[in-house]
Amino acid sequence: MDSIIVNGGNKLYGNIIVSGAKNAALPIMAASLLTCDKVILQNVPRLVDIETMKELLNNHGTFSRWIGENKLEICSENITSKIAPYDIVKKMRASIWVLGPLLTRFGYAEISMPGGCAIGARMVDQHIEVMKALGAKISMQKGYIIAKSEGRLRGAHFNFAKISVGATINGILAATLSDGQTMLSNCASEPEIVDLCNMLNKMGAKISGIGTQKLTIEGCKELHGTTHTLIGDRIEAGTYLCAVGLVGGEITVSGINYNIIENTVLQLAKTGMSFKVNDDNFSIIAKANTIKSVDMQTEVYPGFATDLQAQYMTLMTLGNNTSVVAENIFENRFMHVPELCRMGANISIDGHTAIIRGVNELNGAEVMASDLRASVSLIIAGLAAKTQTKVRRVYHLDRGYENLEKKLQNCGADVHRIHGDSV
Ligand code: EPZ
Repeated sequence: MDSIIVNGGNKLYGNIIVSGAKNAALPIMAASLLTCDKVILQNVPRLVDIETMKELLNNHGTFSRWIGENKLEICSENITSKIAPYDIVKKMRASIWVLGPLLTRFGYAEISMPGGCAIGARMVDQHIEVMKALGAKISMQKGYIIAKSEGRLRGAHFNFAKISVGATINGILAATLSDGQTMLSNCASEPEIVDLCNMLNKMGAKISGIGTQKLTIEGCKELHGTTHTLIGDRIEAGTYLCAVGLVGGEITVSGINYNIIENTVLQLAKTGMSFKVNDDNFSIIAKANTIKSVDMQTEVYPGFATDLQAQYMTLMTLGNNTSVVAENIFENRFMHVPELCRMGANISIDGHTAIIRGVNELNGAEVMASDLRASVSLIIAGLAAKTQTKVRRVYHLDRGYENLEKKLQNCGADVHRIHGDSV
């Protein structure tokens, strides 16, 4: 297993080009199952999760290949299996997004239950409820969701009992080929869902209300292929903004539409960071030792993203006072806290809130990554620590950050990877 060594103390100066959004790429790759035609995706990040989705689609009979560094060609003309097996699904929960496309195109899908993960139970009840609303018969057998429909799914009006990114995506995918009109309300409205809807409409889907919590989808008999360029990854960008906030410096971020990260920037501005927006990029300036402790709570978009909670908390560890971070989306997303405390942070947990008392410095340590975003928060902490930090099990990181070390090295960070380190 690889480890990453960080020697802290350097400020960050330079430019960061954000990769394509992982959380847009995954549902958009699943959407390729909706057509027999070829789909070309551009700005696709080279990540472990992307390779896992390729593996899953190939298991169904999809043909996919890289035709450029970040350009992916996918064709689901010859689907040979409607079963998503446990040995793939257990690697990545996003595998459940083949449920909607397989069911609506073929009338059948057999998907291993994804199971929980480090950050929570990760229920799928809303995924199942929206399929039932569209006319599917759902049963559970040996840990698999069995979904069937007699003929095409039927358009329906459905209100999600809980705002869920994943269930919204599955509902959209299933509704595109349903017979009749579907209205989905209480939807998630993350930019990655907007990107998915925009691509589906380029494939011939008829989705309106995009970007709102209420979507109307006129079902079609079939969809055609298209070429689509993914949006930039706002979570990756926000991660680097938290890093520069912690150690100081100035970084210019490009490859992302400022509008989808403005909510993050405005929260970081409250902590004392300043920023300027240019035509095709934006810069953020931070002076170390001037971090204001500011409370934050995670919310569905356009609230502050849960995927940036660990990174923001790391920024608060060097705050000038005490701050409270509330995690309102997942029930167990504080795995980074014990490791940050081992680096000298002063954080206590009370239910779904963490109380962070700012300290003067962090100290390097050997720490263990536990999930994707907790892992990167330890790297960020290492950038600020006075001595060396070693982050083990960075395979978690490789799921969601493309060229992390290189991007940080280009901005002056002393960070490098040890390949094949001991566990
Ligand atoms: C997506 O996960 C993202 N994953 C997550 O990013 C992100 O944290 C999350 O949305 C919230 O923004 C991908 O896009 C691949 P949810 P998802 O369904 O779809 C509960 C990362 O780090 N829930 O909005 O699983 C659920 O248990 C990952 O890139 C139900 O109760 O998120 C959770 O507490 C981590 N029933 C909450 O809703 C359901 O049927 C949010 O889940 C579905 C969800």
